[in-house]
Amino acid sequence: MDSVKQMNIDGETYTFLPIDVAVKYSDKIHSGFFVPLNESKRVRIEIDEGNLKEKLSTYKEKGLKNILFADEDYNLFLRAIKRGLTGFFFKEDENNKSLNMQQVLFLVRKSIIYVGLQESVADRGEENIDKFFHWIKGSPKLHPAFKNFLKENQEQFVINVFASYVGIALAEALNWPPHLGEKITQASLLGDILLTEKDYFAFIAANGDHSKWTENFRNHPINMSKILQKHHGQTISREVIRAVEQHQEFPDGTGYPQGLKGLSIDQLSAIIIIARTFTDALVASDFAYDNRYDFVNELLEDRFNYNNFKNPTKALYTIMGIPTNESGELIKE
Ligand SMILES: [Fe+2]
Repeated sequence: MDSVKQMNIDGETYTFLPIDVAVKYSDKIHSGFFVPLNESKRVRIEIDEGNLKEKLSTYKEKGLKNILFADEDYNLFLRAIKRGLTGFFFKEDENNKSLNMQQVLFLVRKSIIYVGLQESVADRGEENIDKFFHWIKGSPKLHPAFKNFLKENQEQFVINVFASYVGIALAEALNWPPHLGEKITQASLLGDILLTEKDYFAFIAANGDHSKWTENFRNHPINMSKILQKHHGQTISREVIRAVEQHQEFPDGTGYPQGLKGLSIDQLSAIIIIARTFTDALVASDFAYDNRYDFVNELLEDRFNYNNFKNPTKALYTIMGIPTNESGELIKE
């Protein structure tokens, strides 16, 4: 199922963008767009010097629900958005459309240092990734999907690599043995590879409305865990398969696809969820190291008060150099 709504006028395909999304991301709209007048008529609006956000807000007040993009303009917009969302990683490489693997790893290594983690975390992360690449090359079932994911969703891949390093750092802070770090890498890099560019586009256009996600987006954790169980039960551990299944869950029950709550989330999954939440927050914000205390505090605030999240949250404070007492509570400065 494809949840991106489209319409055909005079043989051309137009894609609907909800007006709220258009307002929110107005700074990412760099091409003209259309305003639908009725079923078969639309008027093109050119980008001019005027304030686009204001203009779009006015349309919204007048009751406009969607704007329309011609194919090429829609792709331009979505690319700008995706790049915008990962601005944290790409600040210095803005013109670099497609990175090779060496460049990706270098970029993530730089980002790890930038947020104040030990560079040695990147060493371990890269070792694990090496092993993972070797393994996935031998999987006729997954290798094509993985290659496609790298090609279509490089930004997302960069995010997943970064999150895997954060996970490794958390595990090390808890004195977990290195083979668990390998499992974190596996689960972090496998979790999303069934997703296509289209799934992410629908996700962005849905603007938080879960009913507008594609089926593939909603169910990707379960679908992937099923494939792993069926085809790789011998080489991928049960823990990793569970972590893949649970990687989009959230302890307050707002995650998906199962809406699992607190204690029903496994320990390895909890690490991955914390790493992921931290990474997503970095991507969505302007992080400043000096402000890390408030940053982490606001991020964790009251959302992870469950026993199984106690260690991972404590570890996040540790790796960010924020002092806590023995039970993981902050020491007020
Ligand atoms: Fe995912």
